[in-house]
Amino acid sequence: MEKTAELILDGKSYKLPIIEGSEGERSVDISSLRNQTGYITLDDGYGNTGSCQSQITFIDGEQGILRYRGIPIEELAEKSTFIEVAHLLIFGKLPNSAELRRFSDLLTANELLNEAVKYHFEGFPPNAHPMAILSAMINASSCFFPELLTSEMRDSFVVQAARLLSKVRTIAAFAYRKSRGLPAIYPKPDLKYTANFLHMMFSIPYQDYDLKPEVVKALDLIFLLHADHEQNCSTATVRMVASSRANLFASAAAGVCALWGPLHGGANQAVLEMLEEIHKSGDDGSKFIAAAKDKNSGKRLMGFGHRVYKNYDPRAKIIKKACDDVLTKLHISDPLLDIAKHLEDAVLRDSYFVERKLYPNVDFYSGIIMRAIGIPVEMFTVMFAIGRMPGWIANYKEVMETPTRIYRPRQIYTGPTLNHYTEIKDRK
Ligand code: SDX
Repeated sequence: MEKTAELILDGKSYKLPIIEGSEGERSVDISSLRNQTGYITLDDGYGNTGSCQSQITFIDGEQGILRYRGIPIEELAEKSTFIEVAHLLIFGKLPNSAELRRFSDLLTANELLNEAVKYHFEGFPPNAHPMAILSAMINASSCFFPELLTSEMRDSFVVQAARLLSKVRTIAAFAYRKSRGLPAIYPKPDLKYTANFLHMMFSIPYQDYDLKPEVVKALDLIFLLHADHEQNCSTATVRMVASSRANLFASAAAGVCALWGPLHGGANQAVLEMLEEIHKSGDDGSKFIAAAKDKNSGKRLMGFGHRVYKNYDPRAKIIKKACDDVLTKLHISDPLLDIAKHLEDAVLRDSYFVERKLYPNVDFYSGIIMRAIGIPVEMFTVMFAIGRMPGWIANYKEVMETPTRIYRPRQIYTGPTLNHYTEIKDRK
């Protein structure tokens, strides 16, 4: 017997189906609401609105649970790698040895950019933000694959996915090298994904970067922890663009733009800038906390709060521990880490934040590790984009494989009622 919700509008009763997820989440299916009642719903920021049913990632914000295809993030962080997790998210299963070998070989086969793409980099000013370059160059590189624009590509989705996942890393590294006036370093086929990225970022001609295992593992963990997060702003953007049947590269380029915002993926850069500002001011953070509580200040405590987590972000817990490990192994003591820990202690005891259930999120500690590795702060959000690429690819694939109507929200119009054109001589 189908469960239903009853809605009474203007004295009339309407029944709407209840849809329940595999983890017991419940929803009222309003697909027929406007046809039945003439009403639509309104939901600022979509905080109460599900845009889709998805099998990729599950989050329980109250419990602080995050699972990729049912596997807890804690287990994956401890036992898996970014590329294994990418396969899990995109294809729904951890790869066996043959599948991992094939996927890894596809990533290697697609790690280079067409040489002509490099000329686009020359057109950017040295201080161009790498997120602008990343979005532009994802679309630019897609021009070399006209087959992307035809539906036949669907049966070799693994090639599309590997091509995007592999090239995003090369584009990011080339963008960094350009910004520093350094020669581009080409990928090495014998290096695995994250090691190859670090090689392209930090090697110099005829002297390879010293790939410390703990550094490679720390960045691989950062990518893994960012790999997907259900319908966040940028993933919802990717699904929105995919729903028009745009190609994978165009959808991912749109995701990069949404991620760039300081309330979303741009927060990791904003956190470091906030910690540096606190450090320079000699303050212990209390002035910043006070400003973040003052609505008129326009300031927020970057790296705190989350639309879904009303508990500690499980990724933040993992990254905080990795921070300690990496800095110890690299014999680095970073005053910003001490400030971050002091800030967290103070905030978690402050009623303003406790009442609003504002806890550290994934962005609060990730920048400390990236800074320790030598990633410049303007590249932090690019790291997030590389990490999130498998999640965007998985969601794109899910839209393409399930009957999805083009995303076209409604609105409630509050503008001028019927009006008429006035000649310029009559205008005030
Ligand atoms: C990511 O969605 C995802 O899954 C995102 C992400 C992913 O993996 O894709 O997890 C990655 O984007 C993490 C979030 C990174 N952003 C930041 O760290 C920026 C700082 N945080 C916020 O601006 C905020 O917490 C958001 C954007 C993350 C969430 O915003 P919401 O859900 O719209 O919350 P809200 O603005 O309605 O705030 C509720 C209350 C408000 O106060 P009141 O009006 O109730 O008095 O909490 C306050 C807010 O003013 N508040 C904060 C705050 N965050 C919320 N006050 C001070 N500092 C903050 N950081």
